[in-house]
Amino acid sequence: MKIVSSGTSITGIECDAVVTGIHADAVMGPVPQRIDEATGGILAQLIKHKEVTGKLAEVTAILAPSGLAARQLLVVGLGDRDKFGQGPAGHAAGAAAKQLAAKPRQTVAFAFESDWDDDVVASALCGAIAGCHGQDLYRAEKKLTPFDEIVWLEASEAALAEGETLGECVNVTRRLVNEPPSAMSPTRLAREATELGQQCGLEIEVWDERRLERERCSMILSVARGSANPPCLVVLKYRGRPDAADTLGLVGKGITFDSGGYSLKPRDAMQHMKADMAGAATVLGAMVAIARFQLPVSVNGYMALAENMVSGESYRVGDVLTARNGKTIEVQNTDAEGRLVLADALDVAVEQGATRLVDLATLTGACLAALGTDVTGIMTNHQAWCDELIAAGQKTGELLWQLPMFELYEQQISGAVADIKNLGEGRWAGAITAAKFLEHFVQGRPWIHCDIAGPAFIEKPKAWLDAGGTAAMLRTLVQLARQSRDAAEARAAF
Ligand code: BES
Ligand code: MN
Ligand code: ZN
Repeated sequence: MKIVSSGTSITGIECDAVVTGIHADAVMGPVPQRIDEATGGILAQLIKHKEVTGKLAEVTAILAPSGLAARQLLVVGLGDRDKFGQGPAGHAAGAAAKQLAAKPRQTVAFAFESDWDDDVVASALCGAIAGCHGQDLYRAEKKLTPFDEIVWLEASEAALAEGETLGECVNVTRRLVNEPPSAMSPTRLAREATELGQQCGLEIEVWDERRLERERCSMILSVARGSANPPCLVVLKYRGRPDAADTLGLVGKGITFDSGGYSLKPRDAMQHMKADMAGAATVLGAMVAIARFQLPVSVNGYMALAENMVSGESYRVGDVLTARNGKTIEVQNTDAEGRLVLADALDVAVEQGATRLVDLATLTGACLAALGTDVTGIMTNHQAWCDELIAAGQKTGELLWQLPMFELYEQQISGAVADIKNLGEGRWAGAITAAKFLEHFVQGRPWIHCDIAGPAFIEKPKAWLDAGGTAAMLRTLVQLARQSRDAAEARAAF
């Protein structure tokens, strides 16, 4: 897809469609106004009859509009003016793009207001790029066809370059999540990471089974033991600031298929478990974006890759494992595998100098039960660090909500046989007891756990995005890196 900025007149641009937007107060900005004048007042009329309401992501198509060189005009709702920002902009542009992508198009022009901030334009473009790519990787007849060209009016080159990169990275993560588990083994995912990382100048290491043994990553090895596909740990390093006192560590759960192991999942629960590597795929997408933006920060990314399967070699319920940091762990449920692979990966991240950590994981059904399918659950050992992520989320419009980490939850994972067990008492507070488990492996470093079990994968399409992988939290991680201060400043703030 080619992205070009244009100063051409909105009315004169020859294209398959021109997209413009209107807020819920139905007050036309200068751009829709110009369109309205050229078309003999068609927008004013549609607004008057409440055909166009400006409700967020509502799309109204006007075919063969007279007075415009475009073959159709799309008016998309931008929602409430006082709630507008990156999130709504992405949803609105995505909804328009998705509707248009139902048929092949050569050129689609987007003409929103010229007073949008660059980050809002970038988010809108990112939404449009994501909106016209579907999950049907293996369908001969695609339901969505990306346009040959997007023309963006009233936008800076910088904003478009940023939006294009974000959109591409979001789509990379989505594609990796949408690939079937047979095509996305740990080794294959590591190869994808290597190729993508090389293209943008990341330093890459892939720890194979032998290296994992030498590095005492027995949790990753144990989870993977029942699978014919060997596990690996991908380490991605980005140095945008050689003198940085601070290193951000991003750690992703990468279970390429989660059968549950001997604590086998019921059949319906196994349905979308190819997406159990979304955390790792999102870390990869965010690392690529951070590198391509050349942000002045130091970031290490870790993808803990394994497949959780059943065989005579599998790890068992009752096994006691020794984590990389020396703690002993009683396996009470082989389906609580994510926290195990993350335990080793977090320890590696700390050892390699991460001063602040964020992990991403499709970790618990409990988080889905608590917050639903659209919201990321976040848990932390360090409120000031967590507040930075909350601020980043407010900027990008991705929804997240903090769950408490009261000390009393700790007793739920205290072991009878080993130091800790990988299961809480009963199923209550399952998202939090999982986080409490992870907290044992961060050596007190400021850390945030993001449970993306809900938003990482959607079964039903949204108006602005096909079903399947969503790359949830990718833009927020990039924003976090963007706004992150160096250690000296941070120490003053903490
Ligand atoms: N990958 C699952 C969590 C999950 C469930 C993600 C649904 C997305 C949608 C995870 O490995 C898992 O199985 N968690 C168990 C933990 C339990 C055994 C403590 C769960 O949530 O049931
Ligand atoms: Mn599981
Ligand atoms: Zn899992």
